[in-house]
Amino acid sequence: MTITFLLNGETVQVDAPPTRTLLDWLREDRGLTGTKEGCNEGDCGACTVIVTDDDGPKTLNACILFLPQLHGKAVRTVEGISGPGGKLHPVQQAMIDHHGSQCGFCTPGFVVSMACAHMKKRSDFDDQLAGNLCRCTGYAPIIRAAKAAASEPVPDWMIDTPLENVQNAHLPENTDELAAWYADHPDATLIAGATDVGLWVTKQLRDLAPVAFLHRCNDLQRIDIAKDHTHIGAGCTMTQVLEWASDHFPSYAELIRRYGSTQVRNAATIGGNIANGSPIGDNPPALIALDAKLHLRHGDMQRVINIEDFFIDYGKQDSAPGEFVEAVSIPHQPNHLKCYKLSKRFDQDISAVCGCFNISIENNHVTAARIAFGGMAGIPKRASHVEQTLIGQTWSKETIKTAQTVFSKDFQPLSDMRASAVYRLQTAENMLMRYYLESIGEKTSVLEVQP
Ligand SMILES: Cc1cc2nc3c(=O)[nH]c(=O)nc-3n(C[C@H](O)[C@H](O)[C@H](O)COP(=O)(O)OP(=O)(O)OC[C@H]3O[C@@H](n4cnc5c(N)ncnc54)[C@H](O)[C@@H]3O)c2cc1C
Ligand code: FES
Ligand code: FES
Repeated sequence: MTITFLLNGETVQVDAPPTRTLLDWLREDRGLTGTKEGCNEGDCGACTVIVTDDDGPKTLNACILFLPQLHGKAVRTVEGISGPGGKLHPVQQAMIDHHGSQCGFCTPGFVVSMACAHMKKRSDFDDQLAGNLCRCTGYAPIIRAAKAAASEPVPDWMIDTPLENVQNAHLPENTDELAAWYADHPDATLIAGATDVGLWVTKQLRDLAPVAFLHRCNDLQRIDIAKDHTHIGAGCTMTQVLEWASDHFPSYAELIRRYGSTQVRNAATIGGNIANGSPIGDNPPALIALDAKLHLRHGDMQRVINIEDFFIDYGKQDSAPGEFVEAVSIPHQPNHLKCYKLSKRFDQDISAVCGCFNISIENNHVTAARIAFGGMAGIPKRASHVEQTLIGQTWSKETIKTAQTVFSKDFQPLSDMRASAVYRLQTAENMLMRYYLESIGEKTSVLEVQP
């Protein structure tokens, strides 16, 4: 597959196998060894690069980025952060001034993330750098450096423009092309953000051919607000969904803010997070609680199902060969949604338990309840018995305590490396109490409670 993109300002044309990663290509074929390999699974940020497309610059992890995903875009590695004659970028100078590096292994990734945040005038440095791990310097000097550089102008060599009108027969340009191709190649692997599929290649060394990349289907990447619902294309990244949710369902937005890292959210798509059928994906419980519908497509045929019906059993989804997720739609509704994510690390970790609650109260009585969990069964699943125990009852602590006793009818969770079955059940029950306490104005988050 031949692809064309800008690399540190120069146009390059590459003939490469579809699942060759940018990281391997940079280091092995181009000798650009500034971009480091740490984990090779999207977790450490040592391989961070800036990729600019029509939506502007964003950070991505080169270790789980396949070369065809770059077609027509502009890539800037750490070698392209300094200017002509080796002139340092303001974030590089600040890292020196503030002693932001010791062994230096993490430093290139940090510098690239900082340069991108600098360019986008972001000052939420903790979030912007949550996907970059440092094990010797510590974060305080690095954050000080990022703050110090913030007021400096963006150097002109950092401005990249994506290439125009580059075509490639193997990269569908819209959903119709994708649908026709996939119906003819039902055994193919679809690749959206590659935050799952990337690991099949780098960790499981799987051969995936044939593949189809979804990232050039712009019509899959739109969020449209209709009269009675919001339509989110399957190709929307978690960064896009986070921006939308901030205005409509802030608790869902907060859940997504803790999804992976900036780099992962810039790549991972909502369609991939649903289609992979994972029992611990963060979007499905929130979407089930919001009564979302899933739009599936096979060739010219489209069908719409309740999203919870998509998840049949562990590893089994309601999807035919050649059929793919086109969109998800969320009905407009008052915001009663609260999402609680429990994970071993606060940032950049997969949920052990993720509980999403959407409960309507009128005249102090429960009139409707949709509650869904990840991490409590082999699939993302509704707490139907708990919901039925709540509906029609007075909204009180006693009602919550009664409802807590029926969780075991809905869920018989597993013990695994993330949590024991007992812990999972108890924390799920506690989340319901948390929802109640927050509804009556008590602060429950350890990040909000003041001494
Ligand atoms: C470091 C790291 C941190 C992570 N943190 C989290 C986290 O906090 N929470 C969380 O939920 N997940 C997390 N993940 C998992 C991952 O981000 C998600 O599962 C992701 O949403 C997958 O989306 P993608 O676009 O990258 O999918 P891909 O990897 O491209 O594809 C995943 C699967 O879905 C299929 N697929 C993709 N799009 C479609 C479509 N439109 N229709 C049909 N099939 C499709 C692919 O064929 C493949 O089987 C993390 C992953 C990494 C690497
Ligand atoms: S090498 Fe760790 S994120 Fe890429
Ligand atoms: S300086 Fe060594 S890991 Fe950050």
